Order: sequence, then structure tokens, then C-alpha cells
Amino acid sequence: MLDAVATTAFIHAFEPGTDAARKPLLLLHGTGGNEHDLLPLGRMVAPGAALLSPRGQVLEGTMPRFFRRLAEGVFDEADLSRRSHELADFVEDARRRYDLAAPIAVGFSNGANIAASLLLLRPEVLAGAALLRAMSPFREPPKADLSGERVLMLSGAQDPIIPAADAARLAATLSGNGATVEHRILPTGHGLSQADIGLLTGWLDQA
Ligand code: MLT
Repeated sequence: MLDAVATTAFIHAFEPGTDAARKPLLLLHGTGGNEHDLLPLGRMVAPGAALLSPRGQVLEGTMPRFFRRLAEGVFDEADLSRRSHELADFVEDARRRYDLAAPIAVGFSNGANIAASLLLLRPEVLAGAALLRAMSPFREPPKADLSGERVLMLSGAQDPIIPAADAARLAATLSGNGATVEHRILPTGHGLSQADIGLLTGWLDQA
């Protein structure tokens, strides 16, 4: 008989936690990354936390992503919505399978953008999100109840991919829906810097 439970199989890495006081992290890589990319970052910023790290299911050439885009910074929003729900379903399945509390998303670039979309479409699957180099995923963002959600946004002042106004718009959307948003703009580009690591570590220590 067929299994009646719908599951979406994401290739993923999972590292069990060793510190029960730490919330699990949902690690979401950037374009061209994979499920291994952010594991060292996760271990560094939240030692002892369980790490759940899926690989994006869209291929742009050979580069995995979490949703389709029409051009750089122009998203296929129907695909984004569908993929966000699939990712949310994966997180729910993984929580049952690995016996996990709701995770905090830590997303970089394309991974940060789908984390922002998850917050807006399925906020109950996350216990907060750190969005590293995120932009607004939707032109007209849906309403969401984000009260109780903590969000850290780290943007780069010289980021050639993410327009500053767009990152600011996302911060306003999230706080306008009730999230507690800390948005820091660092003197750097799209890549992560030592300052990102320090701020992210401090923010996760308060979770
Ligand atoms: C996206 O497509 O999500 C953003 O443009 C960031 C990226 O280059 O992946």
C-alpha cells in the first residue's frame, strides 16, 4: 500500500545536537551551494545545536537554488511560493523524524530569501530567522502574523547584488507584521565577513 503521508524528499545533511538548550538551526545555502556549505558556519555560531541543512531543488545550470528566478533579483514568485511550502513541509517532516524543536533559519543570499518567504507564508515552522544578505522575496508581500518571531538581518553596504532599499523594505515588511527585527548594515559586500560571524553568534546566544 502507498504511504499516505505526503513527503518532499530534499537531499539534506543532519547533525544531531549535543546541547539541549540550543534551538536547532535550519541552514539554507546560497546559489550554487549545497547541503554541506553552511555546516561549518552553523557549528561555529551555535556550538552544540542540531543542524538541518537541505539542498535547494532548483538547478540554474549546474547551480542548486531554492527557487527559480527570471533574472538576477527578479523572482518567479509562483515558483517561490510553491517551493516555500515544500520546504516548510520538509521541515515539519524532519522535525518528526529527528525529534526536533522548531528551528531558527540561518540563510545566506538565495537561502536568506527563501527563509524570508518561509517567514511570510509559513511562520509557524520557524523559531526565528537570521537573514544574511536578504532582499524582499515578494513584490507585494502577503500579510503574516510574525509576533514572537525574532529576525536578524545582516546586509552589506557595498553589496552589488542586494539593493540597500530592497533590504530595508524587507526589514520594514517583517517588523510591520510584528517581528522583532534587528537590521545591521555592515561595511562589506555580498560575502560574509568576520563581523557577520560575531553578530550572528551574539544574536543566537540570546535565542
Ligand atoms: C536570489 O536569486 O535569491 C538573489 O539574487 C541572491 C542570489 O544571487 O542568489
